[in-house]
Amino acid sequence: MSNTLISSDDLKLVAQYCEAIGIEYLPFKLDLKSVSKKKAYTDSGEMSSKQKALDELRSQIGDCRLCRLAEERTNLVFGEGNPDAKIMFIGEAPGREEDSQGRPFVGEAGRVLTNLINKMGLTRDDVYIANICKCRPPSNRDPMLDEMNICMKFVEAQIEIIFPEVIISMGKIATYALMARSEPMSKFSISRVRGKFFDYTTESRVIPVMPTFHPAYLMRNPKDKWLTWYDAQAVLRKTGMLKEQI
Ligand code: URA
Repeated sequence: MSNTLISSDDLKLVAQYCEAIGIEYLPFKLDLKSVSKKKAYTDSGEMSSKQKALDELRSQIGDCRLCRLAEERTNLVFGEGNPDAKIMFIGEAPGREEDSQGRPFVGEAGRVLTNLINKMGLTRDDVYIANICKCRPPSNRDPMLDEMNICMKFVEAQIEIIFPEVIISMGKIATYALMARSEPMSKFSISRVRGKFFDYTTESRVIPVMPTFHPAYLMRNPKDKWLTWYDAQAVLRKTGMLKEQI
């Protein structure tokens, strides 16, 4: 018997057909919501080439020891989500929970981010989420410039592979890193630049970036949530995902 892979969409059709003809029990559990959205596998059942490229990049990074953050990390947090995402969210660096789980934005700030993504009419499986620094800075201090610069080549490679239509940079650190400003980071203010698209140029592409507040800032300043919602709507509009109300 050959090992033909069945695509998630085919599985969904099978499940819908069984339901239609009255079969109430299937000998496997199917989470229709997650299988229909995840695009790591193509419709022909093969792993998408973007996912393969991301896996390849992850194995190249391996047990990275290029900076001091490696000494205290538990897990390197590469990033996760839909390799074909139209929208890529980029934060600063993993916190305690992210370091322990090896996944981005799974702590308190992650809940705020997940709420925003849901409010945009999307799920975490629709977007890609990563950080500038892949390892947790001790005691959640801000990443240092040399640590950011070392990790930027990994971030650039992720962006090149995913090639999202829009990047949302969350907070001062991520925005500063992507904007490549010449002014010192200490003088850089996210409030001054948020809400206005700028271009991020990779080796082969130009991608619009929407800078907005970091979810951790929004936890401390919930009154500013509407500004981030305003920025998210501009992103939805740019990607053609916002239904304008007439
Ligand atoms: N803050 C970040 O910037 N990234 C995370 O993954 C979690 C918190």
